[in-house]
Amino acid sequence: MSLMRSILLAASQNRWLRERAPKHAFVRRAVSRFMPGEELEDMLRAVQGLAPEGIHGVFTRLGENVTDPAEADAVAAQYLDAIDRVRGVAPPPEPSVKPTQLGLDLDAERCYAHLRALAARADALGNYLWIDMEGTPYVDMTLDLTRRVRAEFPRVGVCLQAYLYRTADDLAAMIEIGAGVRLVKGAYSEPRTLAFPKKADVDRNYRALAEVMLGERARSAGVRAVLGTHDVSLIEDMRQHGQRRHLPATAFEVHMLYGIQREAQVRLARDGVPVRVLVAYGAYWFPWYMRRLAERPANVWFILRSLRER
Ligand code: FDA
Repeated sequence: MSLMRSILLAASQNRWLRERAPKHAFVRRAVSRFMPGEELEDMLRAVQGLAPEGIHGVFTRLGENVTDPAEADAVAAQYLDAIDRVRGVAPPPEPSVKPTQLGLDLDAERCYAHLRALAARADALGNYLWIDMEGTPYVDMTLDLTRRVRAEFPRVGVCLQAYLYRTADDLAAMIEIGAGVRLVKGAYSEPRTLAFPKKADVDRNYRALAEVMLGERARSAGVRAVLGTHDVSLIEDMRQHGQRRHLPATAFEVHMLYGIQREAQVRLARDGVPVRVLVAYGAYWFPWYMRRLAERPANVWFILRSLRER
C-alpha cells in the first residue's frame, strides 16, 4: 500500500480531523467534485441530470459507525422517507446503506430490523436495496444480514470486495442464494493476512470473480451482476469476455461514483450497458471523502489547486 494511501486512510478515521476539516470552505469546495450537495434534493437533481444520458442512480446518505441507537433509528427513518421520495423517478434511484450506520456496532438485531424494513419498503415500491461492505470485522455479520433479508425479499444485493482472499467463497455463497452482487476492489485499510497487498493481485482477483458472476451458475440463479468500478480497461475486458460467450450487453451493470469517469459512464450507457451512478449526500462526508482521495492520491492535487485558487 502506498504511503499516501495509508496516510489518507488513517486520516479517514481521525476524529480531530473529521470534526474540523469540514468547516473549511476549501475542503467543502473540493468535496463538491464527488458530491453534488448535502441534501436529498441535491442528490435527486444530480440523478435527474444523468437521466437524459440513459444513466440511472444509486444513493447513499453518508455516515458510519453510529454510537447512539437513536441515531441509527433516525437514519433508518430517513432512508424510509428517501425511498418514498424517490419513487417518482423512473427507474427510481436505489438506496445503498452501511450496516454500521444502522447500528451494527450497537445491536445486530436492531440493525437487521432496520435493513428488513428498508428492504420491505424498497420491494413494495419496485425499488432495490444495496448493502455496502465495510471493513473486515463486519464481513461475516453483513453477509449474515444479507442472507436473512434476502430470504424474505428478492430485491436485495450486497457489495463484495475483490481485495479480500475470502471473497471467492463469499461470492459462491451469495450466488447460492441468488443475491445481487456489486463487486468492488475494496476501500478500507486491511492487513496483508486478509487482503492482497498488491494492486495487480486485486485486479487479477477482480477479473476472476467477475467471470464467476457472468458464469452459468450465477446467471441461472438470477444474480444481478454489478461491476462497481471505474477501471475502464477491466470493464472492457469483461465486455469482451461476455461477447465471446454470446452474452447480451445487459449481462452485467456498471456502477460508478458520481464525478468519476463521467465520459466512460456516457459511453457505456450508449453501448447498451446498464449504468448507474452512486450519488452521496449528507453532512457526514469526511471519512468517505478521505477514502475517495486514497483511491487516487492524485486527487490531493485538486485540493491543493483549490487552496491556491482561494
Ligand atoms: P482503481 O482504483 O484501479 O481505479 C481505476 C481508475 O479509476 C483510476 O485509474 C482512476 O482513473 C479512476 N478512479 C478511481 N477512483 C478514483 C477517485 N476516487 N477519483 C478519481 N478517479 C478515480 N468499497 C467498499 O469497500 N465497500 C463498498 O460498499 C463500496 N461501494 C462502492 C460502490 C460503488 C458504486 C463504487 C464505484 C465503489 C464502491 N466502493 C466500495 C469503492 C471501491 O472499493 C474502490 O475503492 C473504488 O471504486 C476505486 O477503485 P476502482 O475499482 O475504481 O479501481
